[in-house]
Amino acid sequence: MVYQASATRYAEMKYNRSGRSGLKLPAISLGMWHNFGGLDLHENGRAMLLRSFDLGITHFDLANNYGPPPGSAEELMGRVLKSDLAAYRDELIISTKAGYYMWEGPYGEWGSRKYLISSLDQSLKRMGLEYVDIFYSHRPDPNTPFEETMQALDSIVRSGKALYVGLSNYTAEQTKEAASILKSLGTPLLIHQPSYSMFNRWIEDGLQDVLDDFGAGSIAFCPLAQGLLTNKYVSGIPTDSRAAGKSAFLNTKDITEEKLNQIRQLNEIAVSRGQSLAQMALAWVLRGGRVTSALIGASRVSQIEENVAALKNLEFSSEELDRIEKILKK
Ligand SMILES: NC(=O)c1ccc[n+]([C@@H]2O[C@H](COP(=O)([O-])OP(=O)(O)OC[C@H]3O[C@@H](n4cnc5c(N)ncnc54)[C@H](OP(=O)(O)O)[C@@H]3O)[C@@H](O)[C@H]2O)c1
Repeated sequence: MVYQASATRYAEMKYNRSGRSGLKLPAISLGMWHNFGGLDLHENGRAMLLRSFDLGITHFDLANNYGPPPGSAEELMGRVLKSDLAAYRDELIISTKAGYYMWEGPYGEWGSRKYLISSLDQSLKRMGLEYVDIFYSHRPDPNTPFEETMQALDSIVRSGKALYVGLSNYTAEQTKEAASILKSLGTPLLIHQPSYSMFNRWIEDGLQDVLDDFGAGSIAFCPLAQGLLTNKYVSGIPTDSRAAGKSAFLNTKDITEEKLNQIRQLNEIAVSRGQSLAQMALAWVLRGGRVTSALIGASRVSQIEENVAALKNLEFSSEELDRIEKILKK
């Protein structure tokens, strides 16, 4: 059946400006790191993308290596763009990245000009696109001068293959250096993509101030701590969860009794707010307006629906924030 986007897709979503740029991103964006690869069901991935767009999620985040196998999430995006979303290209913000291992030899990872430009060309081919909206350096390269990596990002924008550039996994100091170079080249840093959640707050110690100084936005990845900040692990490990699967990034050892105690207490606060824990965890990441977008993952449509409904209550009383602080500090 031919997909027709919902006529009410812009009714409920909130859009936040990325730093001092002209670009607005949805408060909740969808990442394609897990569950959109060649080993996953195409129809489930397609359904999640289309339902997201119908809910006002205009931003989809990819990287060259998302799959598995690497590259296959971009291929899925390419197929769905072709079959369903082509008519809506101007309503979409599609990002991809290069930095992690992608192919054999000395040019298949990190931050050289050679790797970044070749990798983006491959990504565009896999997605059937002429340009991406945001292209990221996925991680800082200790052996390539930042000048070279930033000049490559600048050339990419000038060549029309990306509209904006971002950094991911750079520390506050590295971001300061890289953003200064980008500024001097005339291609300002649009956005930083760091990890951030109630269980992982490193960006509060400096990175957020650097981004404010440069007028850059931020998009928080793993805002649900890969599913820990939901009710899913409270009474055991469901067989269809990420922790029970083959992910190298979350396994049963990460789900300690200490964490579960915190999760149960946080859940009580969420319930008193009339939210699920996932919804409160997303509202918390977005509190105070310092984070442009919470970048969620999902394994099924119902999770996306639940997570977007977090936007119905983004306000916290100071008492609620204090109670959350006490639980997180334990
Ligand atoms: N730049 C980087 O280096 C980097 C690194 C990591 C991620 N990212 C980006 O961030 C995106 C999100 O990462 P993430 O998937 O780890 O984010 P996350 O939102 O913290 O975790 C998503 C997972 O939590 C579970 N979940 C989501 N909503 C739920 C709900 N309402 N109830 C119960 N469980 C729920 C699902 O896991 P189940 O499979 O268990 O259902 C889902 O796959 C990635 O796709 C990628 O775009 C970037």
